[in-house]
Amino acid sequence: NNTFSTLFVGQNLIRLSEVDSTNNFLKAKASNSEPLPEGTVIMADNQFAGRGQQENTWYAEPGASLTFSIYLCPLFLPVYSQFLLNMAVSLGVKEALAGFLGDSLKIKWPNDLYDNDQKVAGILIENIISGSQYKASIVGIGVNVNQVNFDPVLLNRATSLAKILQRDVNLMEVLAIICENIEAEYLKLKAGNFKMLQYNYINGLYKFNQPAFYRHNDEQFEGTITDVTGNGQLVILSEGTEKQFNFKEVEFLNN
Ligand code: BTN
Repeated sequence: NNTFSTLFVGQNLIRLSEVDSTNNFLKAKASNSEPLPEGTVIMADNQFAGRGQQENTWYAEPGASLTFSIYLCPLFLPVYSQFLLNMAVSLGVKEALAGFLGDSLKIKWPNDLYDNDQKVAGILIENIISGSQYKASIVGIGVNVNQVNFDPVLLNRATSLAKILQRDVNLMEVLAIICENIEAEYLKLKAGNFKMLQYNYINGLYKFNQPAFYRHNDEQFEGTITDVTGNGQLVILSEGTEKQFNFKEVEFLNN
């Protein structure tokens, strides 16, 4: 029902005028008995209670933000390598947005999209478990497309395609390109191309191979990101030793 150049991602596209959260909506839909085609996309023109990482709220501006969720069933992935889906999705969004913004676009570990030091898009992946069985993943993506005014609380840490490009960008065009790139990365994942995926993800990382400051517990330290492990831990080389961190264990400091 659309013109996306994909095999399945976005071929079943449901556009809602408003919803609390496209992730919530898709999760409820996937839990119904009716089977849902893989690649189904739920997008909302107005998402009024979007959720972000770490229980944050994700603010979207109706008409200016792209908010959508994709239904994927990577049942071929070994249980210990769920992070690979995150890598494939982050890389897909990065490649899609780099088509607009160029190589300054990076993945801030684990899965934020940054242009220079400002966030352009975020990803929230949630798994659907039925009984003790992993059934599917809900891949939620929010992109700042045409917003030009941001909450001062964000201290200039957010930006949008329009703000960088100085022109409006068509939301459906961005959606189509993201779906195409995510599908391409997902198919590589399905083909078992893990090493290549990991390599590309790491090379697209914000602050990769660059000395920067981080905080762990109450301690501030200088270090250089050298790797991300297959299960998603960030590896930082600091004072001659490599330290591994789980999500939420380490914070990027901006100076
Ligand atoms: C983050 O950076 O914290 C993740 C943000 C994810 C936001 C998207 S918008 C579409 C989908 N529905 C939600 O409620 N959240 C995700």
